[in-house]
Amino acid sequence: MASFDVIIIGGGPGGYVCAIRCAQLDLKTALVEGRETLGGTCLNVGCIPSKALLHATHSLHEAEHNFAKMGLKGKSPSVDWPQMKAYKQDVVDGNTKGIEFLFKKNKITWLKGWGSIPAAGQVKVGDEVHEAKNIVIATGSEAASLPDVEVDEKTVVTSTGALVLGKVPKSLVVIGAGVIGLEMGSVYARLGSEVTVVEYLDAITPGMDGEVAKSFQRILAKQGFKFILGAAVQAVTSKGGKAKVTYKLRKNDSEAVLDADCVLVATGRKPFTAGLGLEALGVEMEPRGQVKTNHFATNIKGLYAIGDAIVGPMLAHKAEDEGMALAEIMAGKAGHVNYDVIPGVVYTTPEVASVGKTEEQLKEAGRAYKVGKFSFMGNARAKAIFQAEGFVKILADKETDRILGAHIIGPMAGDLIHEVCVAMEFGASAQDLALTCHAHPTYSEAVREAALACGDGAIHA
Ligand code: NAI
Repeated sequence: MASFDVIIIGGGPGGYVCAIRCAQLDLKTALVEGRETLGGTCLNVGCIPSKALLHATHSLHEAEHNFAKMGLKGKSPSVDWPQMKAYKQDVVDGNTKGIEFLFKKNKITWLKGWGSIPAAGQVKVGDEVHEAKNIVIATGSEAASLPDVEVDEKTVVTSTGALVLGKVPKSLVVIGAGVIGLEMGSVYARLGSEVTVVEYLDAITPGMDGEVAKSFQRILAKQGFKFILGAAVQAVTSKGGKAKVTYKLRKNDSEAVLDADCVLVATGRKPFTAGLGLEALGVEMEPRGQVKTNHFATNIKGLYAIGDAIVGPMLAHKAEDEGMALAEIMAGKAGHVNYDVIPGVVYTTPEVASVGKTEEQLKEAGRAYKVGKFSFMGNARAKAIFQAEGFVKILADKETDRILGAHIIGPMAGDLIHEVCVAMEFGASAQDLALTCHAHPTYSEAVREAALACGDGAIHA
């Protein structure tokens, strides 16, 4: 039996970041991870491999659609799918090894195996029981399938199976127009699959600013996506490598069936806490399966939880921030997460990024606001790379000009959003952004122009 200041269960972005910060704060730290590699869902079968495939297939799209326009003539590359998957795996391996290096550097003990909590202050891994002053549940989430849908990870897949399909399917039906469905749908659409997205709601990407979501849908449709909205999937059957998806249109209850070579079930994720022994320990849970916490503390002394296992957006960076804040708290310092400034990004082309309030939320709250919008059509860099379709939209308080939210659809949106995040953290006004010199020519000038549009007007509009 070994004794630690902190034992963290789960080596994803929440858990491993928490471990590193704990070690930096001189806490004797161990982390339990049952996978062969650190990094959790995000690094192994989520954010990172999907970004590698998005990069590879975006490059293919560029070669097929834009190279000739730029005077780059010649045969478009053909797709070697096994090699593309090998490249993706190399990217994953490089990153997971990087975390292992950071563990050694910070002298964090990796307890290999699946952990459980037999009693307060104890963590069991295999046959060994370890003691800890503090225990952190950072066990993440798993795909939530639908009733009557059996996932075999070959013909009917979750995001995990979608990363390693045996071949590129001729037709792919995606259930759910959320982030996973649209990112992985983009990968296969660019590889030549016919992609049909069936979504329960009447719009794609629930929670996204409505105007951005509409524009996003239009752009994806131009890229070949077919959308069936307002349709509840009832059942999926598969036989001999083919699948049938039955859905019901909500407006008239009519039923229809789609044939597909592959079906991606992307209907959300649920917290993963099975096998930890939380029930026997008497840990209070939320109705939707998350661990109930107050500033990360559960109802059991010395037991904490972070990331997808607790309430809030299921995002790697939200988990990371919680991990860092909790480490500070366990070290006797102040730890804080500002949940009002957590960006969200969809890594399609164009990227879509948002932070803070949407127009819909401001209307519902009865808040007086103004909108500053700027189209990438007025941005020279965006035009040069054939990505001028999107826009930046900044929402600011009508009276005080304080920035309340920003929504970007366009090139590098996932990076551009962060200047707005910093501005919001400092309680900045749109004018503060507008008066900040932005290098020319950059995509970020579009953010400044949107901020100018909250005042006397953009220059290039
Ligand atoms: P999601 O919650 O974003 O979207 C699921 C969609 O499925 C919803 O639009 C819902 O209305 C629809 N749906 C549910 N049941 C349905 C049915 N029977 N028929 C038709 N449609 C149905 O979930 P998603 O895309 O699976 O992502 C899971 C989590 O992972 C999310 O929290 C997401 O934020 C996170 N994630 C984030 C990424 C990023 O930040 N880039 C990338 C991948 C995942």
